[in-house]
This record gives sequence, structure tokens and C-alpha cells, in this order.
Amino acid sequence: MTNKIAVLAGDGIGLEIVAEALKTLQCLQQDFGFSVELEPAAIGGAGYDQFGKPLPDETLAVCRQADAILFGAIGGPQYDRLERDLRPEKGLLNLRSALALFSNLRPAILYPQLASASSLKPELVAGLDIMIVRELTGGIYFGQPRGIRVLENGERQGFNTLVYAEHEIERIARSAFDISMLRNRRLCSVDKANVLEVSELWREVVTRVAGDYPDVELSHLYVDNASMQLVRAPKQFDVIVTTNLFGDILSDTAAMLTGSIGMLPSASLDSSGKGLYEPVHGSAPDIAGRNLANPLATILSLAMMLRYSLQQAQLAELVETAVGRVLDQGIRTADIAGGGASVGTAEMGDAVVAALRKLGG
Ligand code: IPM
Ligand code: MG
Repeated sequence: MTNKIAVLAGDGIGLEIVAEALKTLQCLQQDFGFSVELEPAAIGGAGYDQFGKPLPDETLAVCRQADAILFGAIGGPQYDRLERDLRPEKGLLNLRSALALFSNLRPAILYPQLASASSLKPELVAGLDIMIVRELTGGIYFGQPRGIRVLENGERQGFNTLVYAEHEIERIARSAFDISMLRNRRLCSVDKANVLEVSELWREVVTRVAGDYPDVELSHLYVDNASMQLVRAPKQFDVIVTTNLFGDILSDTAAMLTGSIGMLPSASLDSSGKGLYEPVHGSAPDIAGRNLANPLATILSLAMMLRYSLQQAQLAELVETAVGRVLDQGIRTADIAGGGASVGTAEMGDAVVAALRKLGG
């Protein structure tokens, strides 16, 4: 069976890091008999430049037909002054929404080789392995009404709406409980139920769903406390489930615990397991085109794609093992080199391919 993969490199370092993930994919094709068909398409600023919108219709059509989507990064200062609907970010948000990719998995795993790259003491983060499950197609990111209006006194007022319907809470909760069952069976739901009605409902629905998962130990934290606990004692967490906005913030914090946001992959899944795979980091326009970016988050996103959408758990493990081997060899891009010797984006990609070839025998 040929796997159809839509390739949306996007902007900034997106092009360079996706190119390295494609090298890995090519190696899987040549040495491991994995069959893929790639369908490149424009997104974000590139979509705007080529088609006048951040999510061109052609791109959405390509994504709908694909088995999975490999995504680089979007955004750049040249697009910041466009009206909101034309900005690169809107391309990604509309794609998540159009494909109903409501379940966003963001693992934060500390590779033992990188313990010294974390900003926390090694003993606090050694062995860290957290999974953040972020709701991705609802909440304040999409709630209506929204906008900037002029009040009677002539002053402008910005407003957004934080809404969650029960079915949206229930499906992300089930997603998180299912993942907890495959891990250490501890789930922490993060909300702001001491202040927000929407969080009160969130907590009630998550607690109700817990009834179907008697083997999972459920706890609840307010988001302010959760953010503190993440930097105080991060290893207390196994799986965290939370809303779109809280998940956006907490996943950046969790990422930094592992040393570099350049290491963290993500999966965004619909109810049937089709998904978009992207690094958690952004387009980093300051280092774009300079062979400086770390491609490992994108390569690890490819591994997640193999596992969650393409049913190739063995190949996924091979790719992850290859990344571990490269780190064992002391090969580092600048973001994880701690000021020491470093290699470029392309060299890191080549090193992963070399390690993968060796694993293939
Ligand atoms: C992320 C990003 C996006 C988000 C932006 C680029 C729209 O920060 O994936 O975490 O806020 O969801
Ligand atoms: Mg973010």
C-alpha cells in the first residue's frame, strides 16, 4: 500500500527542517521498503504569496486526500501587517478546524543525553516523559463573537469568547484517557474552574468520562498551579489534558524543560486517527535559510506519523532510535550544543539517515 503524505513546509525554517525529514522518509523507502507518495502544497505565508490566502483551496484538497500531513512551520515578519484572516497563522488554524484535528498530542521527553541542556536541575528532569493532550479546534481560539469594537464613548474594546460544548470536552477527555491507558494511567486535567463557568463544565464532563476508565487515576489542577508544578516538580505528571489556550502555553513550558523546543514533535488527530504532524516550535525567521535550525522535532514528528496514522510502529521506533544514536554520538545543532561544537541542519539530517541505515543492518 502506498501512503499518501501531504507535505506543507510553510515558511522560515519550515523548508529546511521538512527537507531533512524527507531525507529520513526517502531512506525508509530505499532501505526499508516503505512506500510513499508525496504531495507538496503551499501553506501560511507561502500560501498567501502564491495563491493570495494562507490556506489555499488546492492545499486543503490535497490534505483531505492524504493519509497524513507533514507540516513545517508558518509565519514571518513580512506578514504581520496583513489583516488577520490573511496571516499565516490563520492557514494553520483553518486547516486544524477544517479537518477536525481536535486532539493535539505534545510529548515532552527528555533525552538523557540532553539533561544538561534543560534550564532545570538535572535531577528534576532526568527521565522526564510527559504527554500533553491539548484540545485544538475549540475554546477561545475559535469562539464567536470575536473582534475589536468601538464603545459609545469612542474607546475601542477587544473581545473573544471562550466556549466549550459538552461533546467537545467529552471527545478530548476520551482521547486523553485512551492515551493514559497506554502509559502510566495517571491523567491530570487542567482548568480554571475557580473562576470560569466553562471550566466548571469542563471539570464535570472530564470527571463523568473518568467513570468509563476506572484504571486511570484522574486529578485536577488550576492552570496557574499547573504551570508552577511544571517547573517545580515536572515528573509528577504522566498525561495532562487541557483546553486550546492553556495547552498552547503549557506545552511551550514543558518543551523547554527538555532542553530545547527544537526537539519536540506533535500530532494533531481527528476522530479516525488521520493527522497533521508538526514540530512544536515556530518558523524562527531570525535563523531561516542559514542551516542553523534543529530538524529533530520534525523528524520525530515523522516518527509520530508512522505510529499514529500509518500503523508503522516498528518504523517509528527505528526513527526514534536513530535520533537517540545521533545524540549518543554527541552530534548537536546549536540549540542543544550548550555553546559547544555544533553541526548544521543538513548535517543533522544526514546523521539521522546514517544511523537509520546502520539499524537496517
Ligand atoms: C502552536 C502555535 C500556534 C497556536 C500558532 C502558530 C497559531 O503557537 O501550534 O502552539 O497558537 O496554536
Ligand atoms: Mg504555541
